[in-house]
Amino acid sequence: MSAAVSLSASGAKVERLALSRFTTLGVGGQAEVWTVENHAQLSEAMSAPYRILGGGSNLVIADEGLKERVIRLGGEFAATDLQAAPESTAEHFISGWVGGGVPLPGLLRKLRTLGLSGLEGTVGVPAQVGGAVWMNAGTRFGEMFDGLFALEIATPEGVSQLSPDELPWGYRDSAIPRNHIVTRVRLQLTRSTPEAVSAKMQNADTSRKGQPKMKTPGCAFKNPGGVGAGKLIDDAGLKGTQIGGAMISPDHANFIVNLGGAAASDVHALLELIRQRVGVPLELEYELWP
Ligand code: FAD
Ligand code: EPU
Repeated sequence: MSAAVSLSASGAKVERLALSRFTTLGVGGQAEVWTVENHAQLSEAMSAPYRILGGGSNLVIADEGLKERVIRLGGEFAATDLQAAPESTAEHFISGWVGGGVPLPGLLRKLRTLGLSGLEGTVGVPAQVGGAVWMNAGTRFGEMFDGLFALEIATPEGVSQLSPDELPWGYRDSAIPRNHIVTRVRLQLTRSTPEAVSAKMQNADTSRKGQPKMKTPGCAFKNPGGVGAGKLIDDAGLKGTQIGGAMISPDHANFIVNLGGAAASDVHALLELIRQRVGVPLELEYELWP
Protein backbone atom coordinates (compact mmCIF):
# COMPACT_ATOMS: atom_id res chain seq x y z
CA MET A 1 0.00 0.00 0.00
CA SER A 2 1.49 3.40 -0.93
CA ALA A 3 1.92 6.09 1.71
CA ALA A 4 -0.67 8.88 1.85
CA VAL A 5 0.44 12.05 0.08
CA SER A 6 -0.98 15.43 0.96
CA LEU A 7 -0.31 18.95 -0.25
CA SER A 8 0.64 21.81 2.08
CA ALA A 9 -1.00 25.25 1.82
CA SER A 10 1.64 26.36 -0.72
CA GLY A 11 1.49 23.07 -2.64
CA ALA A 12 4.51 21.19 -1.26
CA LYS A 13 4.16 17.41 -1.34
CA VAL A 14 4.04 16.04 2.22
CA GLU A 15 4.41 12.30 2.94
CA ARG A 16 5.43 10.09 5.82
CA LEU A 17 8.25 7.94 4.46
CA ALA A 18 11.03 5.62 5.59
CA LEU A 19 14.28 7.56 5.12
CA SER A 20 16.28 4.38 4.44
CA ARG A 21 15.30 4.71 0.78
CA PHE A 22 17.06 8.10 0.62
CA THR A 23 20.39 7.11 2.21
CA THR A 24 23.34 5.33 0.59
CA LEU A 25 23.72 3.31 3.82
CA GLY A 26 20.14 2.08 3.40
CA VAL A 27 19.31 2.86 7.05
CA GLY A 28 16.80 5.33 8.53
CA GLY A 29 13.32 5.31 10.09
CA GLN A 30 10.33 7.43 9.19
CA ALA A 31 9.82 11.18 9.02
CA GLU A 32 7.45 13.64 7.43
CA VAL A 33 9.08 14.41 4.09
CA TRP A 34 8.37 17.76 2.38
CA THR A 35 9.32 17.91 -1.29
CA VAL A 36 9.53 21.57 -2.25
CA GLU A 37 9.64 22.97 -5.78
CA ASN A 38 9.92 26.73 -5.29
CA HIS A 39 10.70 29.38 -2.68
CA ALA A 40 7.10 29.73 -1.46
CA GLN A 41 6.96 26.01 -0.66
CA LEU A 42 10.43 26.05 0.88
CA SER A 43 9.51 28.99 3.08
CA GLU A 44 6.42 27.17 4.36
CA ALA A 45 8.47 23.99 4.93
CA MET A 46 10.98 25.96 7.04
CA SER A 47 8.24 27.34 9.32
CA ALA A 48 8.60 24.37 11.71
CA PRO A 49 11.72 22.47 12.89
CA TYR A 50 13.33 20.86 9.83
CA ARG A 51 16.36 19.11 8.42
CA ILE A 52 17.54 19.42 4.84
CA LEU A 53 18.25 16.14 3.05
CA GLY A 54 20.47 15.95 -0.01
CA GLY A 55 21.68 12.74 -1.62
CA GLY A 56 21.76 11.01 1.78
CA SER A 57 25.36 9.96 1.13
CA ASN A 58 26.81 11.24 4.38
CA LEU A 59 24.08 10.31 6.85
CA VAL A 60 23.38 7.71 9.51
CA ILE A 61 19.70 8.16 10.41
CA ALA A 62 18.22 6.48 13.49
CA ASP A 63 15.89 3.54 12.97
CA GLU A 64 13.37 5.34 15.22
CA GLY A 65 13.11 8.09 12.60
CA LEU A 66 12.99 11.83 13.12
CA LYS A 67 10.55 14.19 14.79
CA GLU A 68 11.56 17.13 12.58
CA ARG A 69 10.24 17.37 9.05
CA VAL A 70 12.73 16.51 6.33
CA ILE A 71 12.97 18.83 3.32
CA ARG A 72 13.91 17.54 -0.14
CA LEU A 73 14.65 19.89 -3.03
CA GLY A 74 12.72 19.36 -6.29
CA GLY A 75 11.23 21.53 -9.03
CA GLU A 76 13.26 24.68 -9.69
CA PHE A 77 15.80 23.54 -7.07
CA ALA A 78 16.54 20.46 -9.20
CA ALA A 79 16.94 22.33 -12.50
CA THR A 80 20.24 22.89 -14.32
CA ASP A 81 20.96 25.97 -16.44
CA LEU A 82 24.29 25.49 -18.18
CA GLN A 83 23.89 28.37 -20.63
CA ALA A 84 26.92 30.68 -20.64
CA ALA A 85 26.01 33.75 -18.55
CA PRO A 86 27.05 37.29 -19.62
CA GLU A 87 29.91 37.25 -17.06
CA SER A 88 31.62 34.48 -19.11
CA THR A 89 34.83 35.25 -21.00
CA ALA A 90 36.81 33.48 -23.74
CA GLU A 91 38.63 31.52 -21.03
CA HIS A 92 36.09 31.23 -18.22
CA PHE A 93 32.56 29.90 -18.32
CA ILE A 94 30.04 31.20 -15.80
CA SER A 95 26.83 29.20 -15.67
CA GLY A 96 23.24 30.07 -14.91
CA TRP A 97 21.70 28.62 -11.73
CA VAL A 98 22.13 24.94 -10.89
CA GLY A 99 19.74 23.63 -8.23
CA GLY A 100 20.93 22.32 -4.88
CA GLY A 101 18.82 19.22 -5.51
CA VAL A 102 20.63 18.30 -8.74
CA PRO A 103 22.52 14.98 -8.47
CA LEU A 104 26.23 15.77 -8.74
CA PRO A 105 27.19 12.71 -10.88
CA GLY A 106 24.73 13.75 -13.63
CA LEU A 107 25.98 17.34 -13.51
CA LEU A 108 29.58 16.14 -13.94
CA ARG A 109 28.59 14.06 -16.97
CA LYS A 110 27.11 17.19 -18.57
CA LEU A 111 30.24 19.23 -17.79
CA ARG A 112 32.38 16.51 -19.37
CA THR A 113 30.27 16.59 -22.54
CA LEU A 114 30.57 20.38 -22.67
CA GLY A 115 34.32 20.30 -21.99
CA LEU A 116 34.00 22.47 -18.87
CA SER A 117 36.80 22.00 -16.36
CA GLY A 118 37.05 22.69 -12.62
CA LEU A 119 34.98 20.10 -10.77
CA GLU A 120 36.67 16.90 -11.99
CA GLY A 121 38.08 16.24 -8.51
CA THR A 122 34.58 15.59 -7.18
CA VAL A 123 33.97 12.67 -9.54
CA GLY A 124 32.45 9.68 -7.76
CA VAL A 125 30.88 11.69 -4.91
CA PRO A 126 27.26 10.42 -4.85
CA ALA A 127 25.82 13.67 -3.49
CA GLN A 128 23.41 16.35 -4.55
CA VAL A 129 24.94 19.70 -5.48
CA GLY A 130 23.63 21.41 -2.31
CA GLY A 131 24.96 18.72 0.02
CA ALA A 132 28.29 18.62 -1.79
CA VAL A 133 28.62 22.40 -1.47
CA TRP A 134 27.57 22.37 2.19
CA MET A 135 30.33 19.81 2.97
CA ASN A 136 32.74 21.15 0.34
CA ALA A 137 33.00 17.53 -0.80
CA GLY A 138 36.05 16.52 -2.77
CA THR A 139 39.22 14.53 -3.04
CA ARG A 140 42.88 15.42 -3.21
CA PHE A 141 42.22 16.21 -6.90
CA GLY A 142 39.81 19.03 -6.11
CA GLU A 143 36.68 20.09 -4.27
CA MET A 144 33.33 21.81 -4.84
CA PHE A 145 34.57 25.30 -4.00
CA ASP A 146 36.99 25.03 -6.96
CA GLY A 147 34.05 25.61 -9.29
CA LEU A 148 31.68 28.06 -7.59
CA PHE A 149 30.81 31.58 -8.75
CA ALA A 150 27.79 32.32 -6.53
CA LEU A 151 25.54 30.65 -3.98
CA GLU A 152 21.91 31.17 -3.03
CA ILE A 153 21.08 30.28 0.56
CA ALA A 154 17.65 30.10 2.17
CA THR A 155 16.87 30.30 5.89
CA PRO A 156 13.61 30.95 7.74
CA GLU A 157 14.69 34.62 7.77
CA GLY A 158 14.90 34.88 3.98
CA VAL A 159 16.95 34.19 0.85
CA SER A 160 20.40 35.63 0.18
CA GLN A 161 23.02 35.39 -2.51
CA LEU A 162 26.74 35.44 -1.84
CA SER A 163 30.11 34.88 -3.42
CA PRO A 164 32.22 31.90 -2.27
CA ASP A 165 34.93 34.42 -1.25
CA GLU A 166 32.64 35.53 1.57
CA LEU A 167 32.93 32.10 3.24
CA PRO A 168 36.02 30.85 5.13
CA TRP A 169 35.67 27.39 3.55
CA GLY A 170 38.23 24.60 3.96
CA TYR A 171 38.71 20.82 3.92
CA ARG A 172 35.24 19.19 4.02
CA ASP A 173 33.79 22.43 5.37
CA SER A 174 31.91 25.23 3.58
CA ALA A 175 31.44 27.28 6.79
CA ILE A 176 27.73 27.51 5.90
CA PRO A 177 25.76 27.07 9.15
CA ARG A 178 23.71 23.90 9.57
CA ASN A 179 20.20 24.09 8.12
CA HIS A 180 21.04 27.10 5.98
CA ILE A 181 19.82 25.61 2.74
CA VAL A 182 21.94 25.83 -0.42
CA THR A 183 19.08 26.22 -2.90
CA ARG A 184 21.10 27.00 -6.04
CA VAL A 185 24.63 27.77 -7.16
CA ARG A 186 26.28 29.24 -10.25
CA LEU A 187 29.43 27.57 -11.49
CA GLN A 188 32.71 29.14 -12.56
CA LEU A 189 34.63 26.80 -14.86
CA THR A 190 37.44 26.87 -17.39
CA ARG A 191 36.72 26.17 -21.04
CA SER A 192 38.50 22.97 -22.04
CA THR A 193 37.66 19.91 -24.16
CA PRO A 194 35.56 16.82 -23.41
CA GLU A 195 38.71 14.68 -23.84
CA ALA A 196 40.76 16.71 -21.34
CA VAL A 197 37.92 16.83 -18.78
CA SER A 198 37.34 13.10 -19.18
CA ALA A 199 41.05 12.36 -18.65
CA LYS A 200 41.08 14.42 -15.42
CA MET A 201 37.97 12.63 -14.16
CA GLN A 202 39.44 9.21 -14.91
CA ASN A 203 42.61 10.16 -13.09
CA ALA A 204 40.66 11.32 -10.00
CA ASP A 205 38.51 8.19 -10.15
CA THR A 206 41.51 5.83 -9.97
CA SER A 207 42.02 6.96 -6.35
CA ARG A 208 38.72 5.24 -5.52
CA LYS A 209 39.82 1.81 -6.65
CA GLY A 210 40.25 0.55 -3.07
CA GLN A 211 36.86 1.80 -1.87
CA PRO A 212 34.09 -0.72 -1.15
CA LYS A 213 31.16 -1.04 -3.54
CA MET A 214 28.64 -1.75 -0.78
CA LYS A 215 25.99 0.35 0.98
CA THR A 216 27.89 2.96 2.99
CA PRO A 217 27.81 6.67 3.91
CA GLY A 218 31.40 7.17 2.64
CA CYS A 219 34.37 7.84 4.92
CA ALA A 220 33.48 7.79 8.61
CA PHE A 221 36.15 10.19 9.85
CA LYS A 222 37.92 13.19 8.39
CA ASN A 223 41.63 12.71 7.88
CA PRO A 224 43.28 14.18 10.98
CA GLY A 225 46.28 15.48 9.03
CA GLY A 226 49.42 13.52 8.34
CA VAL A 227 48.33 9.88 8.32
CA GLY A 228 44.83 9.18 6.95
CA ALA A 229 42.02 7.98 9.20
CA GLY A 230 41.74 4.79 7.10
CA LYS A 231 45.36 3.88 7.73
CA LEU A 232 45.00 4.57 11.47
CA ILE A 233 41.92 2.31 11.75
CA ASP A 234 43.64 -0.34 9.63
CA ASP A 235 46.77 -0.18 11.80
CA ALA A 236 44.54 -0.67 14.88
CA GLY A 237 43.61 -4.06 13.36
CA LEU A 238 39.93 -3.23 12.97
CA LYS A 239 39.31 -4.12 9.31
CA GLY A 240 36.52 -6.67 9.00
CA THR A 241 35.17 -6.03 12.54
CA GLN A 242 31.42 -6.63 12.53
CA ILE A 243 28.70 -5.46 14.90
CA GLY A 244 25.18 -6.55 14.02
CA GLY A 245 24.69 -5.92 10.32
CA ALA A 246 27.49 -3.35 10.01
CA MET A 247 31.15 -3.97 9.28
CA ILE A 248 34.40 -2.01 9.00
CA SER A 249 35.20 -2.68 5.38
CA PRO A 250 38.04 -5.13 4.73
CA ASP A 251 38.78 -3.04 1.59
CA HIS A 252 39.20 0.37 3.26
CA ALA A 253 39.06 0.79 7.03
CA ASN A 254 37.48 4.27 7.01
CA PHE A 255 34.32 2.86 5.40
CA ILE A 256 31.59 1.18 7.46
CA VAL A 257 29.34 -0.92 5.24
CA ASN A 258 25.85 -2.33 5.62
CA LEU A 259 25.94 -6.10 5.20
CA GLY A 260 22.14 -6.08 5.00
CA GLY A 261 19.81 -5.29 7.87
CA ALA A 262 22.25 -3.00 9.69
CA ALA A 263 20.77 -0.73 12.37
CA ALA A 264 22.02 2.80 12.99
CA SER A 265 23.05 1.62 16.47
CA ASP A 266 25.38 -0.99 14.88
CA VAL A 267 27.18 1.83 13.05
CA HIS A 268 27.30 3.94 16.24
CA ALA A 269 28.88 1.03 18.11
CA LEU A 270 31.58 0.58 15.45
CA LEU A 271 32.34 4.31 15.50
CA GLU A 272 32.73 4.16 19.28
CA LEU A 273 35.01 1.12 19.02
CA ILE A 274 37.20 2.90 16.47
CA ARG A 275 37.49 5.95 18.72
CA GLN A 276 38.51 3.76 21.66
CA ARG A 277 41.10 1.80 19.70
CA VAL A 278 42.73 4.53 17.59
CA GLY A 279 45.03 6.63 19.74
CA VAL A 280 44.38 9.88 17.84
CA PRO A 281 41.27 12.07 18.24
CA LEU A 282 39.12 11.59 15.14
CA GLU A 283 36.44 14.00 13.88
CA LEU A 284 33.38 12.33 12.43
CA GLU A 285 32.80 13.14 8.77
CA TYR A 286 29.24 11.97 8.49
CA GLU A 287 26.21 13.04 10.44
CA LEU A 288 24.22 11.05 12.94
CA TRP A 289 20.52 12.03 12.81
CA PRO A 290 19.16 12.83 15.36
P1 FAD B 1 23.39 14.42 2.72
O1 FAD B 1 24.11 13.18 3.06
O2 FAD B 1 21.98 14.32 2.33
O3 FAD B 1 23.52 15.44 3.96
C1 FAD B 1 24.77 15.67 4.56
C2 FAD B 1 24.73 17.05 5.24
O4 FAD B 1 24.55 18.04 4.22
C3 FAD B 1 23.53 17.22 6.19
O5 FAD B 1 23.91 18.08 7.24
C4 FAD B 1 22.51 17.92 5.34
O6 FAD B 1 21.57 18.64 6.09
C5 FAD B 1 23.40 18.83 4.52
N1 FAD B 1 22.77 19.21 3.24
C6 FAD B 1 22.32 18.39 2.28
N2 FAD B 1 21.79 19.12 1.27
C7 FAD B 1 21.93 20.42 1.63
C8 FAD B 1 21.59 21.66 1.01
N3 FAD B 1 20.97 21.73 -0.17
N4 FAD B 1 21.90 22.81 1.68
C9 FAD B 1 22.52 22.77 2.88
N5 FAD B 1 22.86 21.63 3.52
C10 FAD B 1 22.56 20.47 2.88
N6 FAD B 1 32.70 12.89 0.27
C11 FAD B 1 33.79 13.57 -0.14
O7 FAD B 1 33.96 14.72 0.25
N7 FAD B 1 34.71 13.00 -0.97
C12 FAD B 1 34.57 11.75 -1.44
O8 FAD B 1 35.42 11.27 -2.17
C13 FAD B 1 33.41 11.02 -1.05
N8 FAD B 1 33.22 9.76 -1.50
C14 FAD B 1 32.10 9.09 -1.13
C15 FAD B 1 31.90 7.81 -1.64
C16 FAD B 1 30.75 7.11 -1.30
C17 FAD B 1 30.54 5.73 -1.87
C18 FAD B 1 29.79 7.69 -0.43
C19 FAD B 1 28.52 6.95 -0.07
C20 FAD B 1 29.99 8.95 0.09
C21 FAD B 1 31.15 9.66 -0.25
N9 FAD B 1 31.40 10.94 0.25
C22 FAD B 1 32.49 11.63 -0.17
C23 FAD B 1 30.52 11.53 1.28
C24 FAD B 1 29.33 12.34 0.74
O9 FAD B 1 29.08 12.05 -0.62
C25 FAD B 1 29.60 13.86 0.87
O10 FAD B 1 29.76 14.21 2.23
C26 FAD B 1 28.49 14.73 0.30
O11 FAD B 1 28.86 16.08 0.43
C27 FAD B 1 27.13 14.54 0.95
O12 FAD B 1 26.16 15.22 0.17
P2 FAD B 1 24.64 14.77 0.15
O13 FAD B 1 23.93 15.62 -0.84
O14 FAD B 1 24.50 13.33 -0.02
O15 FAD B 1 24.21 15.23 1.60
N1 EPU C 1 45.14 3.03 3.73
C1 EPU C 1 45.45 1.94 4.47
N2 EPU C 1 44.44 1.14 4.94
C2 EPU C 1 43.14 1.41 4.69
C3 EPU C 1 42.81 2.54 3.93
C4 EPU C 1 43.83 3.35 3.45
O1 EPU C 1 46.63 1.66 4.73
O2 EPU C 1 42.28 0.64 5.14
C5 EPU C 1 46.22 3.86 3.20
C6 EPU C 1 46.30 3.76 1.67
O3 EPU C 1 47.07 2.64 1.27
C7 EPU C 1 46.94 5.07 1.29
C8 EPU C 1 46.46 6.05 2.37
O4 EPU C 1 45.98 5.23 3.47
O5 EPU C 1 48.34 4.99 1.36
C9 EPU C 1 45.35 6.98 1.88
O6 EPU C 1 44.22 6.19 1.45
P1 EPU C 1 43.26 6.65 0.26
O7 EPU C 1 44.09 6.93 -0.96
O8 EPU C 1 42.18 5.65 0.14
O9 EPU C 1 42.71 8.05 0.71
P2 EPU C 1 41.94 8.45 2.02
O10 EPU C 1 42.70 9.57 2.63
O11 EPU C 1 41.65 7.29 2.88
C10 EPU C 1 40.49 10.30 0.91
C11 EPU C 1 39.12 10.83 1.19
C12 EPU C 1 38.07 10.12 0.36
C13 EPU C 1 38.41 10.24 -1.11
C14 EPU C 1 39.80 9.62 -1.32
C15 EPU C 1 40.24 9.70 -2.75
C16 EPU C 1 38.91 11.64 3.48
C17 EPU C 1 38.45 11.33 4.84
N3 EPU C 1 38.79 10.65 2.59
O12 EPU C 1 40.54 8.99 1.42
O13 EPU C 1 36.83 10.78 0.58
O14 EPU C 1 37.46 9.59 -1.92
O15 EPU C 1 40.76 10.32 -0.50
O16 EPU C 1 40.72 10.93 -3.07
O17 EPU C 1 39.32 12.76 3.20
C18 EPU C 1 34.85 10.81 1.94
O18 EPU C 1 35.23 11.92 2.32
O19 EPU C 1 33.76 10.29 2.30
C19 EPU C 1 35.72 10.07 1.03
C20 EPU C 1 35.44 8.85 0.61
